[in-house]
Amino acid sequence: MKYGQFSEDGKEYVIERFNTPRPWINCLTNGRYTSLVSQVSSGYSFYYDMGLHAINHKGLTDLLECTQGKFHFVRDNDTGRFWNINCHPSKLSAQSYECRHGLGYSTITSAHDGVSGSLTPFVSTHDDVESWLVELDNQSDKTKHLSIYLYQEMIFGCLIGQSDGAAWFWNSFNEIRYRDGALIGTKRFVDRPDGKGKGHWPYAVFLTSTLQPAGYECSKEKFIGMYRSIADPLALETNKCSNEDVVGKPIVGALRWDISLKPGESTQFAWSMGVTAWDDEADQTKLIAKYKKQQSIRDEFDATRKYWHDQLSQNPVSTPDRALNTDVNWWTKYQMYINAITWRDSNFYYGNFWTAVGNGGFRNILCDAGGMASFNKDIARRHIRIIASYISGDGKQAHGTPRPELKARPSHIGAKNDDVLWLVMTLEDYIRETGDYSLVTEEITSLVDGHTAPLWQFIIKGLDYYISVKGPKGLPLIGTGDWNDALDGVGPEGKGESVWLGMFVHMNLKSMAEILRRTLSGDEQAETLIEQYESRGNELYKIVNEKCWNGEYFVRAFKDDGTSIGDKHCKEGAFFLNTQIWAPICGVTDKVRSNQVLDLVKKRLWTKYGMRFFEPAYTQFDPSIGVITGFSPGSHENAAIFSQANMFAAIAYGMMGRAQDMLDIYKAVSPFDYSDAAIEVRQLEPYGQCQYVEGPESQDFGKGACHWLTGTAAWVLRTVIGFMLGVRPEYDGLRIDPCIPGEWDGYRLTRKFRGDTYEIEVTNPDHVESGVAKVIVDGRELASTLIPVASDGKSHKVQVVMGKSAGCHAREKESVAVS
Ligand code: GLC
Repeated sequence: MKYGQFSEDGKEYVIERFNTPRPWINCLTNGRYTSLVSQVSSGYSFYYDMGLHAINHKGLTDLLECTQGKFHFVRDNDTGRFWNINCHPSKLSAQSYECRHGLGYSTITSAHDGVSGSLTPFVSTHDDVESWLVELDNQSDKTKHLSIYLYQEMIFGCLIGQSDGAAWFWNSFNEIRYRDGALIGTKRFVDRPDGKGKGHWPYAVFLTSTLQPAGYECSKEKFIGMYRSIADPLALETNKCSNEDVVGKPIVGALRWDISLKPGESTQFAWSMGVTAWDDEADQTKLIAKYKKQQSIRDEFDATRKYWHDQLSQNPVSTPDRALNTDVNWWTKYQMYINAITWRDSNFYYGNFWTAVGNGGFRNILCDAGGMASFNKDIARRHIRIIASYISGDGKQAHGTPRPELKARPSHIGAKNDDVLWLVMTLEDYIRETGDYSLVTEEITSLVDGHTAPLWQFIIKGLDYYISVKGPKGLPLIGTGDWNDALDGVGPEGKGESVWLGMFVHMNLKSMAEILRRTLSGDEQAETLIEQYESRGNELYKIVNEKCWNGEYFVRAFKDDGTSIGDKHCKEGAFFLNTQIWAPICGVTDKVRSNQVLDLVKKRLWTKYGMRFFEPAYTQFDPSIGVITGFSPGSHENAAIFSQANMFAAIAYGMMGRAQDMLDIYKAVSPFDYSDAAIEVRQLEPYGQCQYVEGPESQDFGKGACHWLTGTAAWVLRTVIGFMLGVRPEYDGLRIDPCIPGEWDGYRLTRKFRGDTYEIEVTNPDHVESGVAKVIVDGRELASTLIPVASDGKSHKVQVVMGKSAGCHAREKESVAVS
């Protein structure tokens, strides 16, 4: 491949050219401290939240010029020539270059002028510290007298204001001082946009190294010089550092180390940067002392790699498709974990406005939590509790749900009309996975208004809305948006209705009724609700099929004035993906209609990069529909190819037993075996999911946008493991229901489930796409495809034989497919 490939074991992506089409990053994080590192070491670090607690500057043009990063210069003091180990920003071309992005670390290696250098950054799993192991090797036949410089721009605190015209003002509060081999910086005053945190920035940042620095520079002006740039800094020309502390100016954290290497000689050292409370000198001293020791850093490095390996090696799959294995075994799982633990805050696209106002996002966090349930139930449980606490006593949900550690205000209360439904779905995921019903009745305290109640009471308050408020057609109101945030102009007057929401409400009311039946049967209030939910669910089934079906497909919504969108009469936005694919997912229509609309979806929305969001794109801004019409055609929600929605689609086809269609969508969207040409167009990392790629109406059809930060990661795992390999947790056991390419002979997977381990081997002697003839557990044939819960803490051998013969699967198919 032109830019690189996966290592043999799939656990590293090895980049062989530094000039990838966009910065290809790794996200190094323990969930609190995060450092984003690209293949040329551009990127930045932040604490908890990129918007509120930035450590490094985040450049506005990170995606193009990569002006911000941890740049490592090497200066040959005999010639005055200098270069970057990370091959950027100085322009001296390298004799060799490689970047290995791994799980929890990266290694960038390059050679210039006979000196090979390598950088290995990682973030400790328990200390809030990032460390960079640095190695230098003199491969020439001359002694080299070298100065190594680390350069990075610091910012401290809130990005808003600091990264625009008011930077001059905010720089006045900067402070950075050198003490005993370490730089320590903070900000004397911050004023957060959410109104919390006026005063001293709560943190201080230290920067230290195992090798005593020969000099340091904190002034950006002195390091770079006037009329120069970071590619050509004055400090590298003169090889001088001022060694002066800086207060009240633009600051950098630059250290210099002097090293002489004889021919063939090599050396290693490390630098580390970490966060403590701003006034906790004891903690600073302790951490600085620890991170001055090479051995401590090595130990941390080993522990970090082990942590990530242990977390990600759970539930491995082994199929004939190597790219798929690499995808779900390592990288997409890694991406989902990172999204979950960083509260969706790690990429090069957002930061300045999105997260600073606390917009972790009700449904986004839940989406990751649902995916995490199969791998780390504690994280899933914690996230569900936190998100539920963003519901107020009157059932209103905050759409902006900052992580609690930030103590920031929830935002956009009641802004989107679907949020609480994702809580039902995720709670269902969690219980099906764990069998733990206790969460339903656990006490939660609202972060919106402080009231305390059991979790289910929070949910039913939110669900009241769908029982008591109905639009003119009897559908739920869309307000200023449903899953599609950008349909914000359809219903602000309180009459517009969402067909998709009608479907989703139908499904989740039924699900909540089941949860209540299983946890609170006999409770008078719960019994009444069960009845209400069932009957409103049935009512919605009728409304969707009778009033939202235009003879060919399901329309998308009705505006405040009663006219429909996503309908036959629309010149633009005539046919939407979501209402077609969610009809089968929500079980809100019959099989005939499901297949009919899925045929139409293929005909009208399929592209070589996956399914478009709708067609045709909007070309003019229309306030009665919303911001969706304002995005440039083919971008964002305006008819781009949304990755997450493609996974919804893949599942819908899978539920109908249409294996090839499911596979086609998955392969189009997930880049793990993209060709060079396809990667060139997509531009983004071949080892990660992105939010969307641009649609055919865009100038850049196929170009990817917004890497890392997307619920697609969780949904790829749900699609592949749950619906393709067909191993899905249900309340009473593990369902086996494969829907695979017919040419596969079979596959294996290990599935931990409620304390037991299932070693599942599926064989496909008749080369069918779906249908199970036999399920044998520990030598005993089952009468159904549901493996009952053993709960004995043991390992169980499961043999599944697929086949056309009327086995157990055929008998159940009707009830299982659309449940
Ligand atoms: C973005 C949001 C997600 C939303 C989607 C469609 O991906 O993060 O929550 O559902 O856009 O609007």
